[in-house]
Amino acid sequence: MRIVVLVSGTGSNLQAVIDAVKAGELDVEIAAVGADREGTYGVERSSEAGLETFVVNFNSFPTRTEWDEALTARVASYSPDVVVSSGFMRIVSAEFIETFNGRYLNTHPALLPAFPGAHGVRDAMAYGVKVTGCTVHWADAGVDTGPIIAQEAVAVEDADTEESLHERIKVVERRLLVSTLAALAAAAPPN
Ligand code: GRF
Repeated sequence: MRIVVLVSGTGSNLQAVIDAVKAGELDVEIAAVGADREGTYGVERSSEAGLETFVVNFNSFPTRTEWDEALTARVASYSPDVVVSSGFMRIVSAEFIETFNGRYLNTHPALLPAFPGAHGVRDAMAYGVKVTGCTVHWADAGVDTGPIIAQEAVAVEDADTEESLHERIKVVERRLLVSTLAALAAAAPPN
């Protein structure tokens, strides 16, 4: 199973995927890692790991549609079976998702459909929930919507800050992403 991973930030979830592949625990080929802006640590650590990387810079395009088309073409050039949004902080079009037959996987640091959006951890804390968690799902063109594949709960502690809670969620999120990819790879027909 060939995957392209999209990142906007540090890419620690991506690192878990890279580590699992290197350890022989995850049978996927990371065809490329792409970002929507220059200078992400996600791209830096991927090139250090010897992976193909690319940037389709959101700010270099006059319209979202043109950026989306360029991203679609670049990702399609790697012929992925699955595209993974791993902390990719941009909404993509329905055309992007159709191009990859709906196989666009996203992870989110909350128990969807609760607390979608860019601040899932902060919003859950502000609401005062005692349990939150993370979700791996097939993404559609909405904000953190689409069929849920896996979820796991994480307890909120009284002393938590947004950062401490997000870090604990990310420990679970990394494991869930790797195990979901492993299950998809096991179910994928051989090339
Ligand atoms: C993850 O919690 C992801 O769900 C959220 O941003 C975080 C990305 O972390 N959208 P990283 O870049 O993988 O470290």
